[in-house]
Amino acid sequence: MKALVTGSTGQSGSYLIELLLEQNVEVFALVRRSSIGNTQRIDHLKDKITLIFGDMCDPCSLNHAVNYSKPDWVFNLAAMSFVGESWRQPKYTLDVVAGGTLNLLEAVRNYAPNAKFYQASSSEMFGSSPPPQNELTPFHPRSPYGVAKTAAHLMVQNYRESYGIQASCGILFNHESKRRGIEFVTRKVSHGVALIANGKATELRLGNLDAKRDWGHSFDYMRAAILMMLRDKPDDYVIGSEVAYSVRDFVSLAFARVGLDWEEHVLIDPAFVRPAEVNHLLADATKAKRELSWRPTITFHQLVNEMVD
Ligand code: NAP
Ligand code: GDD
Repeated sequence: MKALVTGSTGQSGSYLIELLLEQNVEVFALVRRSSIGNTQRIDHLKDKITLIFGDMCDPCSLNHAVNYSKPDWVFNLAAMSFVGESWRQPKYTLDVVAGGTLNLLEAVRNYAPNAKFYQASSSEMFGSSPPPQNELTPFHPRSPYGVAKTAAHLMVQNYRESYGIQASCGILFNHESKRRGIEFVTRKVSHGVALIANGKATELRLGNLDAKRDWGHSFDYMRAAILMMLRDKPDDYVIGSEVAYSVRDFVSLAFARVGLDWEEHVLIDPAFVRPAEVNHLLADATKAKRELSWRPTITFHQLVNEMVD
C-alpha cells in the first residue's frame, strides 16, 4: 500500500505519517522548497519515507508527484491554514486551498484514477451556521480561508460525482497538539503561559475570548482520516469531540496549569480581532461514530495540559 501526503510537514501531516508507517504503508511526502528548512516535524521520519518536492500552485509538480508515487491513497492536507492571515492574503489562500486542490484532483484523475482521495475539509466552512453542525448543516463561511475550503470541498464532491474519483472529505473541527503552529490560539496561549511562568514575559495579547471551539487532538483526528480511507465507499464525515469551550476557558485552564491567574496577564488587543468571527463551532459527529466506530481518546483538559507542559 502506498500513500501520497500533501501538507506532510504540517502539524497533522506529521501525525498522519506516523500512523501510516505503523500500518506498513509506504509514504511519499510532498514538501515545498524552503531556503531554511521546513521539515522539523518529520525529521525523525525522514529515513522511512520518500520526500517529493512540489507546490500546490504548480500542477507540473503535482502531476510528477502522483505519477512517480502511483499512490493507492492520496491525503490532501496542504493549505494556507491560518484563518487570520487569510484576510491579508486572500488570493494566495484561494490559490493554494481551492486551486491547489483542483490541481491535485486533476493529477489524480490523469495518473492514479483508482486511488482513494482524502480531503482536509474544515468546520470553518460552517461559519455562522448555528451549532451543533453535522454533514447536513449549510455552509456559511466567514473568512477567505473558509470560502476557499468550501470551494475545495465542493470541487472534491464534484470530481467524485463527475469522474468517480473515490474521494472522501473529513470535515474536521479544530485539532491541536504540541506540534501546533505558533500563531494558532492554543499554541500562542500555551507558549505565552510558558514564557510568563519562566519569567521571560509578563503579558499575553489576544483578540476575542468569547469565541467557542470544539477542540480535539490532531493524533485522534488523523486516526479518523485513515478510517475513512478504509471504507469501501467514499463519503464525507464530520469529526469533532462534541464539546465546545470558549477561548477564555482555554486561557483560564492554561494559566491555572502553572498556578497563575490569567486575568493578571492577558490584555485584549484589537490587532487580533478578526473582520468577521466564527462564534460557535460544535460538532455533531454521530455519523462518524456510527459508520467509522471513531471516538476521540484525548480530552480537552488533557490537550491543554499537554500543550502547556
Ligand atoms: P499546518 O500545520 O498549517 O500545515 C499546513 C501544511 O501545508 C504544511 O505542510 C505546509 O507546508 C503545507 N503547504 C502550505 N502551502 C503549501 C503549498 N503552496 N504547497 C505545498 N504545501 C503547502 O496545518 P494542519 O493543522 O496540519 O492542518 C492540515 C490540513 O487540515 C490543512 O489543510 C488545514 O486547512 C486542515 N484543517 C485543519 C484543522 C485544524 O484544526 N488543525 C481543522 C480542519 C481542517 P510548510 O510546512 O512548508 O509551511
Ligand atoms: N490565532 C488567534 N490569535 N486566535 C485568537 C486570538 C489570537 O490572539 N485571540 C482570540 N482568538 C480566537 C479567534 O478569533 C478564533 O475565534 C479562535 O481564537 C480560534 O482561532 P485559531 O486558533 O486561529 O483557529 P481557527 O478556529 O480560526 O481555525 C483553525 O480551525 C479551523 C477548523 O475550524 C485552523 O486550524 C483552521 O485551519 C481550521 O480549518
